[in-house]
Amino acid sequence: MRSYSWRGLVAATLGLCSVGVHAQGTITDLGSLLAGQKNLTTFYSLIQKYPDILLQLPSYSGVTILAPNNDAFNKIPYTQLNSAFANNDQDTITNVLEYHILQGTKVAAQLVPGTPVFLPTLLTDSKWSNVTGGQRVENVEQSGNVVVFVSGQGSRSTLVQADLMFTGGVVQIIDSLLIPPTAIENTTQAFNLTSFEGSLYASNQLPTFSVPNVTIFAPNNEAFQALGPALTTMTAEELATVMDYHLISGSVIYSTALTNGTKLATLSGENITVSHSGNNVYINSAQLLTTDILIANGVLHVISNILNPQGPGAQPNPAIASQGQVFASASDVANLPFTSAIPCTSSCPVTSTTASSSTATTAATKSSSSAAAFTTSSSKGVGAALARETGGFNKAAGLMVALGGAVMML
Ligand SMILES: *[C@@H]1O[C@H](CO)[C@@H](O)[C@H](O)[C@H]1NC(C)=O
Ligand SMILES: *[C@@H]1O[C@H](CO)[C@@H](O)[C@H](O)[C@H]1NC(C)=O
Ligand SMILES: *[C@@H]1O[C@H](CO)[C@@H](O)[C@H](O)[C@H]1NC(C)=O
Ligand SMILES: *[C@@H]1O[C@H](CO)[C@@H](O)[C@H](O)[C@H]1NC(C)=O
Ligand SMILES: *[C@@H]1O[C@H](CO)[C@@H](O)[C@H](O)[C@H]1NC(C)=O
Ligand SMILES: *[C@@H]1O[C@H](CO)[C@@H](O)[C@H](O)[C@H]1NC(C)=O
Ligand SMILES: *[C@@H]1O[C@H](CO)[C@@H](O)[C@H](O)[C@H]1NC(C)=O
Repeated sequence: MRSYSWRGLVAATLGLCSVGVHAQGTITDLGSLLAGQKNLTTFYSLIQKYPDILLQLPSYSGVTILAPNNDAFNKIPYTQLNSAFANNDQDTITNVLEYHILQGTKVAAQLVPGTPVFLPTLLTDSKWSNVTGGQRVENVEQSGNVVVFVSGQGSRSTLVQADLMFTGGVVQIIDSLLIPPTAIENTTQAFNLTSFEGSLYASNQLPTFSVPNVTIFAPNNEAFQALGPALTTMTAEELATVMDYHLISGSVIYSTALTNGTKLATLSGENITVSHSGNNVYINSAQLLTTDILIANGVLHVISNILNPQGPGAQPNPAIASQGQVFASASDVANLPFTSAIPCTSSCPVTSTTASSSTATTAATKSSSSAAAFTTSSSKGVGAALARETGGFNKAAGLMVALGGAVMML
């Protein structure tokens, strides 16, 4: 695949100049391709409205555009992107669109069924992504030839039409918008990892876990409940050492790299060991339950037990379903440890929840911060967002003129 002039590509996309791309056999330019797809009218108008997405790019040797169809845009009010589109939040929309463009040309036939790949996108702004080389989207072919793209908060988009080639790459049509992965504290709620989130606040380790390029092994709520006082009576410093044993800082390790026997150096200084037994994967003796939850600064995997840096040699007993605890004085608690350490952002109780005393707390969990910040279900959303698009072309044209070159032909 040859590299392609983005300026030419954009001009062609917007139909602003007619260089001889039509002459190149059956392969068309992006503009003609999009204009010819009646299910892509909303996406096409957005690209026209935000041409800087394509203009500010370096030259890649081909790109893959995951183009949401019109049905996908109709679903926005029910997704976390609603407020961005309802409020015409250009910064968010631009970054969301960049997350829909993959580096390089990826055709569906490159997938190995059942094996996920983690493809770098053009989302690189550190306000949105702290994954070096561009935030990734997971792509996997499931049984029945169903191809899905998994994005932030476990959102799934299904491929509905594959491999529409254009001169600069390929368009893949998907049925839902991708959600850019969010920060740890905005992702944990969706996966019920509230005790884990609280433990990061209680140990003052959230900033440590928020640096670029991380892999996090997050124990589920049941894991925290099973230890109870063994953790909650620790000082913040002791708890921090335990939490650091769940963090690989400086590398983003997706499930495909968690091969049998792998040792990974954690921030606590001790290694963790990956082992496979039958269909199960273990981190030390904790079972790997959910893999590849994409977050703004890397990836998070859910495990069944809390790992103990003082017992790095712990091994699973694959013959039993539920692995034993690796801490002394573990004792089941009914409430969710550490959740009161989570700062409240909405529907807050009257009592103060600030703080980091490492004590077990009642499960008076606040209502979800991430959901609240992202979603305001409004039936007006899409209509309003779509209505605005028609007015967007003037601004786009203004920007194009400012950029000069072929655009001046306007
Ligand atoms: C990325 O890291 C920088 C500083 O390390 C921080 O300011 C920014 O908020 C982070 N971005 C995200 C999306 O977490
Ligand atoms: C096009 O839209 C129709 C009607 O919503 C839908 O049934 C069809 O699956 C869509 N096709 C593609 C490729 O998006
Ligand atoms: C979260 O936990 C609650 C209570 O433990 C449970 O009812 C709910 O189904 C869980 N949700 C998910 C997504 O696991
Ligand atoms: C992130 O990882 C990449 C390679 O995976 C590396 O080149 C880069 O320096 C890392 N960045 C940070 C801030 O750790
Ligand atoms: C971690 O594992 C590596 C081998 O992968 C080994 O060289 C190193 O000594 C181990 N570190 C500790 C603290 O055991
Ligand atoms: C993982 O490695 C161990 C030790 O080499 C081996 O005994 C075990 O069979 C391997 N597991 C799988 C699923 O291959
Ligand atoms: C993420 O969580 C923080 C802390 O709870 C909150 O202030 C922020 O609004 C959230 N952001 C999003 C996008 O949900």
